[in-house]
Amino acid sequence: MGLVEFSSFEDSLHPCCNAILSANQYVRKMKGGSQSMLVRANDGRNYVVKMSDNPIGPNLLANEHVGSLVAKAVGLPVAEAKGIWLSDSFIDSHPDLWFELPSGVRRPNKGMHFGSLLVGQTSGADRPTEYISPSRVSMITNRQAFLGMYLLDVWANHQDNRQAIFRRSSTNAQEVCFIDHGHMFGGPEWNFQGNLGSALHLEMAVYTDLWQDEQVASWISRFQTIIPEVLTSIVAPMPSEWYSGNLRELLSNLADRLLRLPELVQADSEKTWHPSQQKSIDEYLRVSDFGIHDLRTPGTRSAFRHSRATA
Ligand SMILES: Nc1ncnc2c1ncn2[C@@H]1O[C@H](COP(=O)(O)OP(=O)(O)OP(=O)(O)O)[C@@H](O)[C@H]1O
Ligand SMILES: [Mg+2]
Repeated sequence: MGLVEFSSFEDSLHPCCNAILSANQYVRKMKGGSQSMLVRANDGRNYVVKMSDNPIGPNLLANEHVGSLVAKAVGLPVAEAKGIWLSDSFIDSHPDLWFELPSGVRRPNKGMHFGSLLVGQTSGADRPTEYISPSRVSMITNRQAFLGMYLLDVWANHQDNRQAIFRRSSTNAQEVCFIDHGHMFGGPEWNFQGNLGSALHLEMAVYTDLWQDEQVASWISRFQTIIPEVLTSIVAPMPSEWYSGNLRELLSNLADRLLRLPELVQADSEKTWHPSQQKSIDEYLRVSDFGIHDLRTPGTRSAFRHSRATA
């Protein structure tokens, strides 16, 4: 049994004020490249924790932190972000959480790591799921958020597919909550690239009929108002172990992208939301490129992926 301390970065007046919590529990390792783990902190809640010295990249935790808080600030549903302190004794008593690398096992460093509040329960019917079938897409009550998240991801030059957890409500409706922002901001290396259309959710049916020019303009305007107001205060309290890139350069890049967002969105959407409308799935296969999908036909990309997967 170890101790977990965590501090909330939402307290902008006291960003470094740590609440020391008592006993916590290591639950299990999670799947995925960053080798995150599920822990119970002694606020009684469960967190998926990514460690600052994870094998994916030096800026991963900064991306998680900034991505979560910016998305939350603009009104998008994201898992709650917390800083979680892992002590030496906690790490030593749970060798299962150590990194498994081709070169062998590596012990993570003690310190402040990033926690994403588990959406749902650790087991049972409310265990979180990342999968949504096309037939259940219409039951997502807050599906509009996929448009906002897509636009935010274009701003952030997100280098990975957009991940989300679907939670079932008592009425059997679905609610989406976005997770995994580690590849926003040009990826864990802060290496902004011109690739388009990489940050869409794998189930393209979630985007069906969402595009409306007024909605897009409204999201962009909201970003351009809110992000400059909050970004510095979000970035300032970050522990120095959460990044190794040039923060000043990152902020200037992001400010520039915010100004250019209408044109960035146009370029990306031409490839993803408004591709040449007449292409059949066979033509997609011949083109053999990601990002070419007709969003107005639910399940097209599912069918496309399925046919690729079974080819
Ligand atoms: N807040 C959360 N609530 C519920 N499940 C979560 C949460 N955050 C992460 N997970 C789950 O933890 C696992 C790893 O999460 P994540 O995708 O963020 O890590 P990753 O290392 O980037 O993995 P990958 O490289 O496979 O994308 C996934 O199964 C994901 O569904
Ligand atoms: Mg992931």
